[in-house]
Amino acid sequence: MPYTLTTPLYYVNDRAHLGSTYTTLACDAIARFQRLRGEQVCFITGCDEHGLKIQRTAEAAGLSPQDHCDRISEGYRDLWRRWQISNDRFIRTTHPRHRQVVEAFFARVEASGDVVEGRQQGWYCVACEEFKDHPPGGTAVDCPIHLRPLEWRDELNLFFRLSRYQRQIEQLVAQPGFIAPPSRRREVENFVATGLKDFSISRQNLPWGIPVPGHPGHTFYVWFDALVGYLSALLDPGDPIDLNLLAERGWPARVHVIGKDILRFHAVFWPAMLLSASLPLPRSVFGHGFLTREGQKMGKSLGNVLDPEVLLDRCGRDAVRWYLLRDIPFGDDGDFQQQRFSDLVNNDLANTIGNLLNRTSSMARKWFEGCVPPAAATDSSHPLALAAHQAHATVLEAMESFDFRRAAEAILELATAANGYLNERAPWSLMKREANRAAVGADLYAVLETSRWVAVLLTPLLPDLAERMLAQLGWAPIQSGVAEPGDRQTASLPPEPDWSASLSWGLLISGAALPEPVPVMQRLELATPL
Ligand code: MSP
Repeated sequence: MPYTLTTPLYYVNDRAHLGSTYTTLACDAIARFQRLRGEQVCFITGCDEHGLKIQRTAEAAGLSPQDHCDRISEGYRDLWRRWQISNDRFIRTTHPRHRQVVEAFFARVEASGDVVEGRQQGWYCVACEEFKDHPPGGTAVDCPIHLRPLEWRDELNLFFRLSRYQRQIEQLVAQPGFIAPPSRRREVENFVATGLKDFSISRQNLPWGIPVPGHPGHTFYVWFDALVGYLSALLDPGDPIDLNLLAERGWPARVHVIGKDILRFHAVFWPAMLLSASLPLPRSVFGHGFLTREGQKMGKSLGNVLDPEVLLDRCGRDAVRWYLLRDIPFGDDGDFQQQRFSDLVNNDLANTIGNLLNRTSSMARKWFEGCVPPAAATDSSHPLALAAHQAHATVLEAMESFDFRRAAEAILELATAANGYLNERAPWSLMKREANRAAVGADLYAVLETSRWVAVLLTPLLPDLAERMLAQLGWAPIQSGVAEPGDRQTASLPPEPDWSASLSWGLLISGAALPEPVPVMQRLELATPL
């Protein structure tokens, strides 16, 4: 059974921002880790392309909605390629097959008696594509998230009978582990406790949407269509449109990773829709926090939005991945601070991890004919071997629970231990006496081997840096990605050999040639704001 995980399907009203990049990088780390664990992974991402917000954005740009969507979604694909995101699938909700899946899904929901006609009155935020709780009538207020006026709606729509699922949803959200991190559960429980109300799943007079079969003049509400995108993504291109096939293709998802603002849709509405369609429920929903910048909400009006393209060009993949995954506890809100960003990258990656490898391999090359020195006979009880095994155990546990920060810290501690060991043993002094040659060789071997472990353990978080480090050690790269990201026919197979084969102490071969050392991590020197 594949390990299926998803990012949200991103709106194509605008180019990707740091928020969507953050979710996608985190999912990439999970996907790479699970592949290395030997799981067959199906990592889904994509774009959510219908609805009024997108229709209006296209009109404002003077484009047809389809041309606009083609352009922006290609931008997403391109960006994820540049970040080396290892997604197995990229779903677009304007794909004709998706429309057929939505129709098949709706047919099941309607057959369950869960679709009724009703009058929808309320205040709507087009940017959220969501009705807000503001009392009916009166004057418009601003959406608290987008700070733009809500719009009044009064129309006859189709409703999904969410209220019928009150008991089942109460039980579901109370299940430990369904909503993570646990701090987010209370918020959803409170919402469910106020009593679930039926919600409208169609719109009238909205051409940019999927037509509702049997209900002329209605198109599907964008969220109804978008959530079903997780299912469309799983069907192989040659499959018939048969929802019963999903079980073989990787449904239910192990986890939907989302931002906290869209938790209700994933933890309440979506499970109820799936219950109605007699399909299994996702195992968990992880709601991560929001990023701010230097203490301020990021927004176009403030002109302080961090552009993922700029970050990539000026700082590179490793630096940004490291900062976001190592510094912000996944699940909490986090603040992007430029000074701290460059300090962490320079201290952790350039100095602690990079310089360790660089100076050790330089010494080994100089004193041991350019080769990995001989190891000591008692090597497996070496203090660094014990530290490496300890780090491995922590990384396994931390990555399994999406605690990227703890995993990163454990790897960093291992590198710090190796630096400490090297400083304590001071091979540069010992080497002054030829009698110490074997001891120096054994010390350098242990530190090089530790660097190899650091690189292997880093692979799911920083695949690029890991690869450069391994190359520096004359070691083959560890495959954690997929050959060609995107629309694969089948979920990715576990790469061979899986990483546990590389996590055994003493694999570095004494006598193997060490390549000329080059710094594996450039220091970040950011003279101007990003
Ligand atoms: N299209 C819907 C999702 C449909 S899923 C079937 C959507 N798209 S979105 O593009 O607006 O948002 C994508 C994600 O970006 C959300 O998970 C949201 O929480 C996240 N973020 C948006 N701004 C963010 C920050 N400033 N920080 C972190 N993540 C944030 O919602």
